[in-house]
Amino acid sequence: MRRKIVAGNWKMNLVNTEAKQLTAELVGMIKSEIRKPVTIVLAPPFVHLNAVAQLIDKNGSNIYLGAQNCSSHASGAFTGEVSAAMIAAMGGAFVIVGHSERRQYFKETDHDLAEKVNRVLENNMQPIFCCGESQAERNGGRHFEVVNKQLEAGLFHLDAAAAGKLVIAYEPVWAIGTGLTATPEQAQEMHAHIRSLLQKRYGPVAQDISILYGGSCNEQNAASLFALPDIDGGLIGGASLKSRSFVKIISALN
Ligand code: PGA
Repeated sequence: MRRKIVAGNWKMNLVNTEAKQLTAELVGMIKSEIRKPVTIVLAPPFVHLNAVAQLIDKNGSNIYLGAQNCSSHASGAFTGEVSAAMIAAMGGAFVIVGHSERRQYFKETDHDLAEKVNRVLENNMQPIFCCGESQAERNGGRHFEVVNKQLEAGLFHLDAAAAGKLVIAYEPVWAIGTGLTATPEQAQEMHAHIRSLLQKRYGPVAQDISILYGGSCNEQNAASLFALPDIDGGLIGGASLKSRSFVKIISALN
């Protein structure tokens, strides 16, 4: 049985006091309102990992710590980088790898991402591996081809045991932060496609891999997306910065 997951990607938002306040609000609301078995991930900027970890810890909940990125290197002279080992030591359980903003603005290549996935797994954390096509690629009918290539290049070097630890996030680039959401049909179609690809490469373990939808997912549209058979939760950007909205999205999981 695959896990239902809602992950909040805070991106480059919130200073320390705000991060602590949001976490404290979420911990309280989730504890009193969320009864179902759902894995909740908070992915703050690196500098807030420790503060967020302390607040989650004290309350022993189903909330896990995530990071938005990590270095492709294990350690060493890489000024400004943060290693997977550092994140794990801070209590991290998940790391987002290959977000389209990382691919686009920081020129992360498929090779970098495959290495990052390795570093995350070596440190006993789970990668949330992002894939998704641009508007031009979808308009050109190339969305399946693009996603195939991203998965093959970033993940298919793994064996089935390692693949079982993956979480995938399908995030059409044209839907991220734009207010445009994939229709439930478009999302389900791609999620089913991703699962069939994983099935072909890895066999039955594909049924255990959670595939999240991301891209302008909010409290209005979450329920219709999460109702679909291959959508196992969401990776939430903007709407994860407001405690009430984020908790409503979690509540929308069936
Ligand atoms: P958004 O971002 O929900 O603000 O569209 C999603 C993401 O980038 O993970």
